[in-house]
Amino acid sequence: MAINWYPGHMHKAQKEIKEILPQIDIVIEVCDARLPFSSENPMITEIRGDKPLIKILNKSDLADADVTQLWLAYLKSQQKVDAIALTTDNPAVAKSIPALIRKMLPNKDQQGKQINAMIMGIPNVGKSTLINTLVGKAKAKVGNEPAVTKGQQRIKLEEGLYLYDTPGMLWPKIINENSGYRLAVTSAVKDTAYDHDDIAFFAAQYLLEHYPKRLIERYKLEPLPETEIEVIEAIGRLRGCVRSGGVVDFHKASAILINEIRDKTLGAISFETPALIEDETKHFIELEAEKVAEREARKLKRGRGRKNKR
Ligand code: G4P
Repeated sequence: MAINWYPGHMHKAQKEIKEILPQIDIVIEVCDARLPFSSENPMITEIRGDKPLIKILNKSDLADADVTQLWLAYLKSQQKVDAIALTTDNPAVAKSIPALIRKMLPNKDQQGKQINAMIMGIPNVGKSTLINTLVGKAKAKVGNEPAVTKGQQRIKLEEGLYLYDTPGMLWPKIINENSGYRLAVTSAVKDTAYDHDDIAFFAAQYLLEHYPKRLIERYKLEPLPETEIEVIEAIGRLRGCVRSGGVVDFHKASAILINEIRDKTLGAISFETPALIEDETKHFIELEAEKVAEREARKLKRGRGRKNKR
């Protein structure tokens, strides 16, 4: 299924969420542990307002455990935010979510008042699987493609504790090109505007910088190539993706790398750290400021030009 983040989809999801928000005491956002920043919904800050938030770093079996610890510490340092790492490999941890919800709302809990939690997440982060684990039966529809959760569900987790599953399709945070590539390489977004080979080049460059040993071990890259193109070329030669004339089939070699990242053959990999995201965000803000300044300068120049003609 191709995912297109149409304004119509976004508007519908926003409207549906806003309708149920007044009843909600706490928000649970499911993210992908390999990319906790890029897989969050950009509306989350606005949605939660000052409600407590539990960030779930899901699929943590696929993420680098050390980096996940960095993310947990980073997220927990934020106001009224708690965070946990989850994986289907260890469903028992998911069962601790009701207790965590109650801990974050001590007043309501002590007064025995009903607690309403809202769960949200962009497609394919494993929200339906998690809901199934929480309720112990197949209430949420789990498909093998990112799908729209049809119709809002209110799920009783425990006596006096309800989970609202947000309907509508939420979109990821593609504030810069890198976030888009990270979503694509982890297959969080299965069909993107990005070219398949470009995704592999992005991944190869990232692995060269952050996980060179994995490349060396898996693809016998000794010495380690300097560029991402050389990495893909070496994978192609090693795996026999060579056309007549000895030219490497980059498309086939790219597919091998992407598949081996996605199926964890290359090990657990995280695609962003809090420090990397802070750097990128700073750079992004500077770029935006430069663009605005350039636009203003052009406007000013045009204005002066018109005055001089008069
Ligand atoms: P969604 O509701 O957020 O869209 O996601 P959903 O639960 O449908 O899960 C999306 C995919 O992620 C599913 O794989 C699911 O099995 C997988 N998944 C969910 N939780 C985890 C986890 O903790 N670790 C790993 N490694 N994978 C997880 P699929 O390939 O689409 O289908 P299938 O594997 O169930 O056949």
